Amino acid sequence: MTLLIQRRWLGQCKPLRSVAAVTVAVLALAACSPKEEAAAPQAGAPAADTSAPLQVGFMYVSPIGDGGWTYQHELGRKAIQEKFGDQIVTSMVESVPEGPDAERVLRDLAGQGKKLIFATSFGFQEYVQKAAADLPEVKFEHATGYKQADNVAAYDTKTFEGAYLAGIVAGSMTKTNTVGVVASVPIPEVVRNINSFVLGAQSMNPAVQAKVVWVNEWFNPPKEAEAATSLINGGVDVLYQNTNSPAVLKTAQERGVYAFGKDGDMSAYAPQAHLGSAVINWEPYYTKVVQDTLAGTWQSGNFWWGVKEGAMDLVKIAEQVPQEAKDRVATVKTGLQDGSFAVWTGPIRDNQGREVLASGVVANDGFLRGINFYVQGIEGQVPGAGQ
Ligand code: GUN
Repeated sequence: MTLLIQRRWLGQCKPLRSVAAVTVAVLALAACSPKEEAAAPQAGAPAADTSAPLQVGFMYVSPIGDGGWTYQHELGRKAIQEKFGDQIVTSMVESVPEGPDAERVLRDLAGQGKKLIFATSFGFQEYVQKAAADLPEVKFEHATGYKQADNVAAYDTKTFEGAYLAGIVAGSMTKTNTVGVVASVPIPEVVRNINSFVLGAQSMNPAVQAKVVWVNEWFNPPKEAEAATSLINGGVDVLYQNTNSPAVLKTAQERGVYAFGKDGDMSAYAPQAHLGSAVINWEPYYTKVVQDTLAGTWQSGNFWWGVKEGAMDLVKIAEQVPQEAKDRVATVKTGLQDGSFAVWTGPIRDNQGREVLASGVVANDGFLRGINFYVQGIEGQVPGAGQ
């Protein structure tokens, strides 16, 4: 049995052929390691009676070493490999640009026998749709988009909840009453996160104002650092970011101000500047998807998990953060878990003074997914929104 499995695995460890030169294609060593071949399914994993393991592919937009977004997806991949043992075989391709290469990689993964493919960035959306239309036997999971099909599900994490929790801490720490965000790509998710961070900060300190610099990329550490520098030069003393690397945090440390880790635990990159990390845990959702696929019950849909589902948290809050803010973070987390608190509850005004949510009104998902304005206190306007 072991020998058979090993042969099958070795067959799956052939290098990718048709990935463009700029794409670093890496078949996960972990997925091919004898350790994982021998791993038995953990308690709770379904005992599927399959003669061949389910082949699962992951496509990443930045290098795993980004320490944030992609790193967390990779932790999710490893977790399901460990959990489901020899019922599944996983592999990944990293640093795939959000362009035509993405479609080629998706088709290549399907050609290798992947029956479940996770495409983990917003800009892959059109390429997922195109590939999926020709590959009805493959199930696609697309992170942070909204388009679905019979064989395409959309999924995301409520990163805005993490942003709000970080904001609570930021509002309690700023001395200049000016916080800043290094923003990545102007999609609704990112605009929602910027606003949520500022709402969290203002909930502790109503005087908080905010500045935003857009870098229009997910992963470009020098550009992220440059944006952070310009915000600090403009009087910002606490930074948040929606980019993929720890560059903002490291810049904050060099300049003697504060910042957060985002998506992954970035505390080790800049311990003096680090106030907390808003961390995504993809494991619960990836476990559900694999379980459903193995059981033959996979369905398309739009899945959005957050603090309540164990998919989002603010971790490693720095010691020097005032107890009042730590207590508020704990209270909000409890409220998000039991449904008694919602980040987007009125009254909320945009930065032109218009009421966007009336007092006591809780935003529904449709509102949250369509936010294209800045809340009161944020300078400037959302790119392309024409406020
Ligand atoms: N990094 C790369 N792609 C994405 C995305 O779609 N959302 C977020 N939050 N970060 C990313």
